[in-house]
Amino acid sequence: MTNDMAVLDVAGISKRFGDLQVLSDISFTVTRGETVCVLGPSGSGKSTLLRCINWLERPDAGQIYLNGDRIGINNGGVVMSDRELSRVRTRIGMVFQHFALWPHLTVLQNLMEAPVQVQRRPAAEVREEAMALLAKVGLSDKADVFPARLSGGQKQRVGIARALAMKPDVLLFDEPTSALDPELVGEVLLVMRELAREGRTMVIVTHEMGFARDAATRILFMDRGRVVETGPPERFFVSPDTERARQFIQRYAAG
Ligand SMILES: Nc1ncnc2c1ncn2[C@@H]1O[C@H](COP(=O)(O)OP(=O)(O)OP(=O)(O)O)[C@@H](O)[C@H]1O
Ligand SMILES: [Mg+2]
Repeated sequence: MTNDMAVLDVAGISKRFGDLQVLSDISFTVTRGETVCVLGPSGSGKSTLLRCINWLERPDAGQIYLNGDRIGINNGGVVMSDRELSRVRTRIGMVFQHFALWPHLTVLQNLMEAPVQVQRRPAAEVREEAMALLAKVGLSDKADVFPARLSGGQKQRVGIARALAMKPDVLLFDEPTSALDPELVGEVLLVMRELAREGRTMVIVTHEMGFARDAATRILFMDRGRVVETGPPERFFVSPDTERARQFIQRYAAG
């Protein structure tokens, strides 16, 4: 069963690495305009979940649907080729902890690469949109600079703009600020808050509790490969249903 309203529908995903069961029957949906923040202790499976969504890891069981289309398995019922997968992945914007910008391309070229080479869109149009995106993340003046010349916060803002350049159906973030010097975290969170306000559909793995509390429409709390609790941030942070979530929140509150 797929949910018609869902942009992203994760249905019964499980994944093990050898003897280690990393994800156990994870199900949730993300509707258009939602900002879902995924919280949970280290090792609970958050990154593996994001990697399963775009099939960077192949789930052992379960299905992923993006706007009703199954990811990873094609219409013939067989596993997608690398070419099919890379096409599908252009509909899923991904922002990692480490910036993964192409070092030999300028900032503008980084933004234009996938839309022109993979999506085959006209370069002039892509260029114009890319410049608008750089303005949006406050980096218009860096268009012709190579990534090595940018600060960590600037690189991450380019990473976000690059993900947006593909006009993805959903954006996935895996701890986008955790590799940054503390004074650079704010500028990246500011951009992400703006995207949330605009109603972009996003799934964000983060340890930034303040951000999750005021930018998320919903919290998904994971522990040991399971979704332990899900709900609006007002409820999750003030009166969580589970003892496990209460402990987690207290530990962060204590700093
Ligand atoms: N490719 C892999 N092979 C074997 N084990 C793996 C692999 N990737 C992840 N794991 C294990 O799966 C578990 C979940 O890892 P994952 O990276 O998804 O956790 P996480 O919630 O993202 O943690 P963190 O908050 O530290 O980033 C961990 O025990 C990890 O060691
Ligand atoms: Mg992780």
